Amino acid sequence: MPSSSQDRRIAVVGLGFVGLPLSLSYWQQGAEVFGAENDPRLRSELERGVTHHLESDDGQPIAAILSAALASGRYHLVGSAAEATRQADATIVTVGIPHGPTGLDLGPLRGALQEVVDAAPPGHLVLLRSTVPPGTTRQSLLALARARGRNVGEDIFIAYCPERIAEGRAFREFREMPVILGAFDEASLARARAVVEVVTRASVTTSASVEAAELSKVIENVQRDVNIAVAQELARACEPADIDVFEVIRLANTHTRVHLLEPGPGVGGFCLPLALSYFLPFAQEHGVVTPTLLAARRTNAEVPPLLAERALSHARALAGDAAPRVAVFGLAMKDYSNDARLSPAVEVCETLRGLGAEVRAVDPAVPPQFAFQRDEPAWAIEGAHALLLLSRQTALESWLEDVPRLGAMHPGAIVVDARNWLPHGDELLAPLGLAYWKI
Ligand SMILES: NC(=O)c1ccc[n+]([C@@H]2O[C@H](COP(=O)([O-])OP(=O)(O)OC[C@H]3O[C@@H](n4cnc5c(N)ncnc54)[C@H](O)[C@@H]3O)[C@@H](O)[C@H]2O)c1
Repeated sequence: MPSSSQDRRIAVVGLGFVGLPLSLSYWQQGAEVFGAENDPRLRSELERGVTHHLESDDGQPIAAILSAALASGRYHLVGSAAEATRQADATIVTVGIPHGPTGLDLGPLRGALQEVVDAAPPGHLVLLRSTVPPGTTRQSLLALARARGRNVGEDIFIAYCPERIAEGRAFREFREMPVILGAFDEASLARARAVVEVVTRASVTTSASVEAAELSKVIENVQRDVNIAVAQELARACEPADIDVFEVIRLANTHTRVHLLEPGPGVGGFCLPLALSYFLPFAQEHGVVTPTLLAARRTNAEVPPLLAERALSHARALAGDAAPRVAVFGLAMKDYSNDARLSPAVEVCETLRGLGAEVRAVDPAVPPQFAFQRDEPAWAIEGAHALLLLSRQTALESWLEDVPRLGAMHPGAIVVDARNWLPHGDELLAPLGLAYWKI
């Protein structure tokens, strides 16, 4: 049950990858939840208990948790932030910041915050959990509340809590991931802590400033981007030396202070590739240049086109005058995800198509949305000159356990393994007359 009788009714604004499992986590703890989602298509799916997310809690799939919540009468789906806020004691905002051709678009987040502040009853807590450019909570939430004549810390409470979960582990990480909290006054901090502690069992660390909390989240993401760039460059160096990069990383990570991430087909999703665009304006505002961070971003951004071109040159050599055919397993932005936003795997497919290849891609977890996607591995590999293993999915791994199935590919075809799916790929594929390249 919620720890404070003051915060029994929780609104969550934005029922996406973060907001949906977060709202359900509050419901699991006994809160009455008002989930606001302004995308009518998504809301109507949720109303029917349908979600494509791959989250689960203790073996129970998120769709089952959603259905139980809806049936309980204590979990309400509404169409606007205002409607949810009006009925709640506290509102948690998890609206994202889209990235368009001109950079980050804070419009949807600002719009949601405005709705929340305008609807917030006296004594309401507004807890922002979105990842934001440093300064956003002050400029877009505190300033707005003050402009509306609200007395922050007395009749409205405001705090920032960076969201740190990873997709696929949301329920567990809402409970177990240490939390950072920042606020502009002690009363808001205390309210925010009480609301966070309804779900979290982990430590809650208070930030000396809201901006430090915002920046800590941004640099966590930037650090992962840089770390992956290191692994990517290591992979490039290992390949001509015929050394398995995943083995090198496994060995290095036995050191207690080393934690190298792994290379792959690139870096995707809304968090890591965009992290630098949250950080750079802040650095530039203070006259600081960040050549290392920029170089790392470039290294990662180069991977999908390089991978596509390399696979295609092998496929073209086999295809002769015909269009080279390339099969792709995994379209998600990372292993075991249903999220194809800014996915390097999708970029690889589009690059290949742009260069004249016929692409046949399979990803059972990613809802069908691409002309070149079908949920049939056998269709994808039939006669293919190359197979790219880009992001793992359990169903595809099971299918690939029967390696001789790949004999349906074109003789001499190459399997490009970007995620170490087939640790001994050379030995497995040689009897089938297939080439193997692990990045
Ligand atoms: N996805 C992750 O794993 C993850 C992890 C850590 C942090 N974050 C951060 O959390 C935030 C949310 O990310 P996400 O992946 O859940 O985004 P998302 O796009 O999946 O979800 C946001 C939802 O908000 C809805 N929305 C937008 N404006 C609204 C409004 N005015 N009223 C009601 N609903 C509204 C959108 O329709 C969307 O469904 C982002 O800032 C992101 O950077 C995400």
